Amino acid sequence: MQIIHISAECYPVAKVGGLADVVGSLPKYQNKLGYTSAVIMPYYKNKFVEQNSFKTIYESTVALGVYKLNFSIRMLANNPLDFDVYFVDVPELLYKDYVYSANDTDRFIAFQIAALDWILTLDKKPEIIHCHDHHTGLIPFMLQECHNYKSLNKIPVVTTIHNAQYQGWFSHEKVDLIPEFDFHNVGLLDWGSSINPLAAAIKCAWSVTTVSPSYMEELQLEANGLEGLLSAERSKSVGILNGIDAKVWNPETDTYIVQNYTEKTVAAGRQANKAWLCKEFNLDIEKPLFAFIGRLVGEKGADLLPEAIFKALKSNEINVLVLGSGQSEIESALFGLIELYPGAYNAFIGYDEKLSHIIYAGADFLLMPSRVEPCGLNQMYALRYGTIPIVRSIGGLKDTITDITEADGFGICHQEVNVDEMINAIERGTALYKTKTKFIKIRRYIMGIDHSWDASALQYINLYKALNNQL
Ligand code: ADP
Ligand code: GLC
Repeated sequence: MQIIHISAECYPVAKVGGLADVVGSLPKYQNKLGYTSAVIMPYYKNKFVEQNSFKTIYESTVALGVYKLNFSIRMLANNPLDFDVYFVDVPELLYKDYVYSANDTDRFIAFQIAALDWILTLDKKPEIIHCHDHHTGLIPFMLQECHNYKSLNKIPVVTTIHNAQYQGWFSHEKVDLIPEFDFHNVGLLDWGSSINPLAAAIKCAWSVTTVSPSYMEELQLEANGLEGLLSAERSKSVGILNGIDAKVWNPETDTYIVQNYTEKTVAAGRQANKAWLCKEFNLDIEKPLFAFIGRLVGEKGADLLPEAIFKALKSNEINVLVLGSGQSEIESALFGLIELYPGAYNAFIGYDEKLSHIIYAGADFLLMPSRVEPCGLNQMYALRYGTIPIVRSIGGLKDTITDITEADGFGICHQEVNVDEMINAIERGTALYKTKTKFIKIRRYIMGIDHSWDASALQYINLYKALNNQL
């Protein structure tokens, strides 16, 4: 079976968040299972593109309303990845030094049309088209409705919702940018009086998946306006928990971290990574280190971090380190705390892949007080590296972390997102840290939990097979 994933992000080519990690690892595991899985993504002007050479395999023009733009499909000349990537190069729109901007409608419409125009020319067509998030949400509609793509409408198309907060809305004035279709069916594009690519995908995809089973349930009640639609389409929807790339995220071989380690050498290995962090960020190695890594936005509960950290540090018993970027007021509040607690708190405001790996390898606890968490990969990376997650039980966090008060529990969970619950969870972590034997036992146990893609990649394959059997 030939599978094509279509996405705006893919690690290590272009990463903004977890979407990249998923699209950069699921195809690898599907190939490992004996299928042929590849990715189509935009050709951006970034470090990966600068550092690699490419060959052009197809050239044409893409029609965007009345405009015609040149585009080409490129591939890596020497592919270091475990799957093929087809890059859609639309120089005028996509070749930018960013993945997303405030005005992306034309960019991602052009991307989607060019991708389908190229697929039309292939002798061997994919047997599954797997779209990710709203940036590729028009594809299920275009396959079903646009006259140009009629010959592709027997290819089953799956849409995965990584985050329903973002839907890609744009005005009906731009409807002419979409290739010709029977205008009676324009309602398929609409939700709440604007064109809503995520809603169109939910309506037209053969199957809709979310990145954890709990998130699928939660979306029935709260989906930023799409809850009614998701309930109506429930019978073709399923929640499949994300996996992690156990090759990239492996403390035994990770080249980013200061000292590699296994379950047997975890104590010394993690101590070396913690020592590096404490030296670099002026923290106290004797105290437990609580860390946060992620986007500094309300969804992640990051707006509560400054107050929660300020209060929690009063105990004088802990260290806190934050790595993240996002809303400027949260960034400055977190930055402002540094001078209040020198020696116990620090923050790196920005994005740093290497530092994130060292934090997973050296922090004692990882804080994830998310309001919304469709899956969350950080907690699974933390487990693999032996860092105990402290999470708000929601979405994928609920599906992956069991509280220490339960049988076989190994994490710390809280039910609500507020400063008091966050502080209480940190205090529970501090107490656990002091009961050394239990702390060490849990640390070793969590490293052995298998969250690799093995199981979930197979679940997707079974879904694709079921869709192909419907034909
Ligand atoms: P989301 O995609 O909602 O941001 P996920 O938990 O799915 O959340 O994935 C986040 C990914 O981005 C993880 O790989 C995490 O390590 C990484 N990440 C987030 N913020 C940063 C940062 N500031 N620096 C480095 N990596 C980061
Ligand atoms: C989104 C979600 C996150 C999920 C990621 C990968 O960014 O916010 O929870 O882990 O996609 O599916």
